[in-house]
Amino acid sequence: METEVQKKVVIFASGAGSNAKAIIEYFKGHNNIEISLVVTNRKEAKVLDIAKDNKIYTLYISKSEWEQKEKVLEILASYDLIALAGFLLKIPDYLIEVFRNRIINIHPALLPKFGGKGMYGMNVHRAVKEAGELESGITIHLVDEVYDNGLHLKQAKVTLSREDDANKISKKVLALEHEFFPKIIEQYLSKL
Ligand code: GRF
Repeated sequence: METEVQKKVVIFASGAGSNAKAIIEYFKGHNNIEISLVVTNRKEAKVLDIAKDNKIYTLYISKSEWEQKEKVLEILASYDLIALAGFLLKIPDYLIEVFRNRIINIHPALLPKFGGKGMYGMNVHRAVKEAGELESGITIHLVDEVYDNGLHLKQAKVTLSREDDANKISKKVLALEHEFFPKIIEQYLSKL
């Protein structure tokens, strides 16, 4: 009997980790994709508890350790894909080069609108509100050296009402994130 090749995913996250949770739950018991590691740049990130609850290895890499190219590459050598799920540190260029087309990010807006440096978390949703947008959504994209610039793998939209504040917008968008991020990771990995 042929055994399927196991693909290993590492999640990078800095915060609450609701996307990481959605991804971990989706791939539980999956036949050829495994979430093997959660990496963070924040010791106190809640995502670490989610990973531990699910018996997934965690690793904290401090800002200065990211500069140790050989060490970081050695740690990540055996992974097929890096999923950025609310990771707030700019990915070093050496990592992008080695993992070319193998780093996926989720952005909580419809890029190219509301993207770029400083556009993360609630900043994005506040900007959407201030612009009076009547829709927002998600963009799942490959990561290259420029913020929010890589190839789009998926966009999904949600309708906003005039009454929605930034908080409400973030909730609507987060629901889309949880629905689509794991599926797009699965689809993309099947082609790698
Ligand atoms: C999400 O909105 C994600 O799109 C953005 O940061 C937020 C992270 O939320 N990049 P969580 O930590 O997954 O709950």
